[in-house]
Amino acid sequence: MKRKKSAVPKPRVVTTKTVMMMKQTGEKIAMLTAYDFLVAKYLDQVGVDVILVGDSLGNVVHGYETTLPVTIDDMIYHAKAVKRGVKNALIVVDMPFMSFQTSIDDAVRNAGRIMKEVGVGAVKLEGGEYIADIVKHLVKIGIPVMGHLGLTPQAINKFGTYEVRATTKDEAEELLHDAKVLADAGVFSIVLEKIPAKLAKRVTDSISIPTIGIGAGPHCDGQVLVVYDMLGLTEEFKPRFVRRYSELAETMRQAFLTYITDVKSKKFPLDKESY
Ligand code: KIV
Repeated sequence: MKRKKSAVPKPRVVTTKTVMMMKQTGEKIAMLTAYDFLVAKYLDQVGVDVILVGDSLGNVVHGYETTLPVTIDDMIYHAKAVKRGVKNALIVVDMPFMSFQTSIDDAVRNAGRIMKEVGVGAVKLEGGEYIADIVKHLVKIGIPVMGHLGLTPQAINKFGTYEVRATTKDEAEELLHDAKVLADAGVFSIVLEKIPAKLAKRVTDSISIPTIGIGAGPHCDGQVLVVYDMLGLTEEFKPRFVRRYSELAETMRQAFLTYITDVKSKKFPLDKESY
């Protein structure tokens, strides 16, 4: 597998400490989601820094309209498959809706299950100041936490849309405050989703831990995309922040069509494909 020599460092084991250090050294953090063994393996082979087992699997793997139905068992099931494909990348697993918001006890029990049953490096929690005590407790007992601010899909019913967040002055100040509180509570990094680039820069400049943007502009310390979006598998989903690095939906349709045609026209299998 050929890699671009200059930008991608040699494979190395990535931990939460590595990610925090990358902010200091100025090396951008490349994060993508994965939900299964093979995608995780290929991401790991080419040196992605962080693999997020996102609860976006509810949308792109299970076909739910929102991430709300995703359960802790779903997350553990997919995270176990991802884990089997990864040697180097830091794996972060999303805590799904209602697996941590209810109490510190529930958060500990569910994050503890992810850490014990899967054996990953960290969990990710959506939310601001109101989850600070939960974050503090998880970090205290040895469970690293990534934060997630801005567009938090688990709160879709509160906001009603997936539009850009924190566009007013008050909302921007609140988000900045939340980021500082989360950083003080001990998160090792924060995802900033769909917020103005200027605000993402302010947040990035105001905290000592890395920010990882999705639709948050170029000033974040790292970037994340949903892997099916960047591969062009989620065809109808075309927000401006998704850069498509492939058109896999069309590639797949063409392959399936060719296969069907070959079967119907008796071109598959050939003798050399038979025993
Ligand atoms: O669930 C997910 O994939 C995420 C990313 C969009 C950051 O939270």
